Amino acid sequence: MMMGVSALLHLSLLLLLVLLLPFVALTANINLETPIIASEDSPPWKSTSEDFAFGFRQLDGNPDLFLLAIWFEKVPNRTIVWSANGNNPASRGSEVKLTKSGELVLHGPEGKELWKRPQGDGKSSSAAMQDDGNFVLLDGNSKSIWESYNEPTDTILPGQILDMYSNLTSRQTPQNYSDGRFQLHMQGDGNLVLYPISESTETIYKAYWASGTMNSKSELVFDKAGYIYLKDGTKRIFNLTKTDISTFSMQNFYHLARIDYDGVFRQYTYSKNEKCSFALRTVAKYPEDICLAITGDTGSGACGYNSYCLQTNGEKKCLCPENYSFVNPNDPQKGCKPDFPLPTCQENGWEANPKLVEFKRLNNTDWPLSDYDLQTGDGVTEQMCEQLCREDCYCAAAIYNDNHCWKKKYPLSNGRSSTSVNRIALLKVPKDGAFKLFEEKKDQSALILVVSLLLGGSVFFNILMILAIFLAVYFSYHKKFLQSFSSVLGGNITHYRYKELAEATGGFKQVLGKGAFGIVYKGVIRSDAKRFVAVKKLDKMEHEGEREFKTEVSVIGQTHHKNLVRLLGYCDEGEHRLLVYEYMSNGSLASFLFGISRPNWNQRVQIVLGIARGLMYLHEECSTQIIHCDIKPQNILLDEYLTARISDFGLAKLLLADQT
Ligand SMILES: *[C@@H]1O[C@H](CO)[C@@H](O)[C@H](O)[C@H]1NC(C)=O
Ligand SMILES: *[C@@H]1O[C@H](CO)[C@@H](O)[C@H](O)[C@H]1NC(C)=O
Ligand SMILES: *[C@@H]1O[C@H](CO)[C@@H](O)[C@H](O)[C@H]1NC(C)=O
Ligand SMILES: *[C@@H]1O[C@H](CO)[C@@H](O)[C@H](O)[C@H]1NC(C)=O
Ligand SMILES: *[C@@H]1O[C@H](CO)[C@@H](O)[C@H](O)[C@H]1NC(C)=O
Ligand SMILES: *[C@@H]1O[C@H](CO)[C@@H](O)[C@H](O)[C@H]1NC(C)=O
Repeated sequence: MMMGVSALLHLSLLLLLVLLLPFVALTANINLETPIIASEDSPPWKSTSEDFAFGFRQLDGNPDLFLLAIWFEKVPNRTIVWSANGNNPASRGSEVKLTKSGELVLHGPEGKELWKRPQGDGKSSSAAMQDDGNFVLLDGNSKSIWESYNEPTDTILPGQILDMYSNLTSRQTPQNYSDGRFQLHMQGDGNLVLYPISESTETIYKAYWASGTMNSKSELVFDKAGYIYLKDGTKRIFNLTKTDISTFSMQNFYHLARIDYDGVFRQYTYSKNEKCSFALRTVAKYPEDICLAITGDTGSGACGYNSYCLQTNGEKKCLCPENYSFVNPNDPQKGCKPDFPLPTCQENGWEANPKLVEFKRLNNTDWPLSDYDLQTGDGVTEQMCEQLCREDCYCAAAIYNDNHCWKKKYPLSNGRSSTSVNRIALLKVPKDGAFKLFEEKKDQSALILVVSLLLGGSVFFNILMILAIFLAVYFSYHKKFLQSFSSVLGGNITHYRYKELAEATGGFKQVLGKGAFGIVYKGVIRSDAKRFVAVKKLDKMEHEGEREFKTEVSVIGQTHHKNLVRLLGYCDEGEHRLLVYEYMSNGSLASFLFGISRPNWNQRVQIVLGIARGLMYLHEECSTQIIHCDIKPQNILLDEYLTARISDFGLAKLLLADQT
């Protein structure tokens, strides 16, 4: 009997709850006394239909940051349509509530006030999350004193109106809700305009789309039937929705319009029934191709500097040219940086050596701004255009079309690619291998081992160790040296450590040129800081390189002549093979002959005689006769007095006494 009563009691309580639940939900007014906490399990305030919800949303990729937002509750992605604190996400544990003084306040976990509405007069006693997505604060007379509709972020919904002087601002990226690079303005002159904005200063660049409606009064209306248009009084003056929207009924479709992070203003629909297809359907978009639309004299364009914009399937993509990479891989709109040192027009920069320069070609691509020179004429072919850029150290890229050659400087801006762009981009980059990265730090682990052994041992043991190490180092270097070269080297050729040469060249940074089998770098040896040296780093793992190394060391080691470049030293350490020469301040004969200041006759004659004397010495006068095999202007260097010096003996052959 008792059991029966209690069961009945439970049942009736349950029934009461079931009956009450829809009733509670039906009251749109929400009791805000109890706060919502920024955490995973604090329920949001939902609209009656439960289509929209107001509350905290965890940021993608940052589980401890929360956005106070309104979203589509029934859409699988729960698409956010409004946010209070996109620029300042709240930490876990923050809370939002309606205070006794009638304000809706967002507090940080330590009680710091982060956001508050209404800002002026007015006390709210209740709030409503409405079924149209508008969150409203109401005063004691149920009159609205603040609406999220009047403070839009990047999205508008059916029923929402943008008055004159109001703006929408795009987000940074699809997942980062802080202010991005594009804005929609409903201007005071009646014109609806899309602008790129500068990230740091809010400077507005040239508009990339405008409705052209200059009326004393107009407003942007998103009506309850799903049409977006500009209205002057009662008259529609510009229709943004061009299609028949009645096929996407309000009953079966959600509607929204948004200035997306990529700068395009799109009107979307989403089927309420297609719970599995997450895709929003675009029914209108402005501008048609954002890559081609943005052309301001300042600013980087639709994508960041040095990148180019490509629209595929209606989506904007920001891409980096070959040998460039994203400044911020998480945000391709932030632009690209070159993977190589920029041309500086220093006489020893890579761009000064035509052999180290190559061009990457991009069809149908243009950077229409940032040109500093234009060459036209029948002779201006694509090859000629490339040549013009190659010979000009300021030139970062050349754009060619129909006997026109534009030279561009850094940073490249407003880059675009499209089949309608009738231009070819030629980007100047260093040839592969022009900069080999400098690998060091290998012998550091050995050093650490030795040091720890030293610290761990007794004094006597330490002295023994030091002696042993010293002797081992001494012999290992001198044995090698003696083995390979004792027969050929006469006198003062220095043996260098790899580390010394790496230091001397600042980590192999400044390229002088490329000889047979290796790149030549400029450097200063610490022990002789007054003179420059040229360090040739031979390519590793090449048998040819090995042979060449021995030839050069042995051949030049024997020679002393004022018309030959002198070998000062070498390094032979594991895989590292380097040769150290005198530095020739006037570069190669090739650059001298074909450079800006052409030599006069007397200089030419002196150079020719110098080369002849050098060859004469090699062929006739030296104890082992040598044929150079690779005499060309690139291998004749000029010292500070413009004396010709033969260099690069990589292919030289030694002759026996009876050979000719
Ligand atoms: C919209 O942007 C313009 C230009 O930046 C600015 O002057 C205006 O105050 C903004 N309007 C609102 C409501 O923020
Ligand atoms: C969003 O982007 C801005 C600007 O790049 C950055 O300062 C901010 O930290 C980002 N926010 C998050 C949550 O990653
Ligand atoms: C906009 O569309 C409406 C309804 O389709 C039409 O009556 C009106 O003439 C159009 N206005 C303009 C300026 O095209
Ligand atoms: C859901 O997210 C996917 C991927 O981010 C996106 O393509 C799709 O349009 C989103 N759908 C909605 C309804 O927001
Ligand atoms: C340029 O890019 C190519 C291929 O993407 C790569 O092989 C090469 O090493 C790069 N060159 C430089 C100098 O970074
Ligand atoms: C670029 O166009 C040339 C002809 O002008 C063609 O030979 C080449 O294959 C094209 N390159 C690419 C990557 O489309």
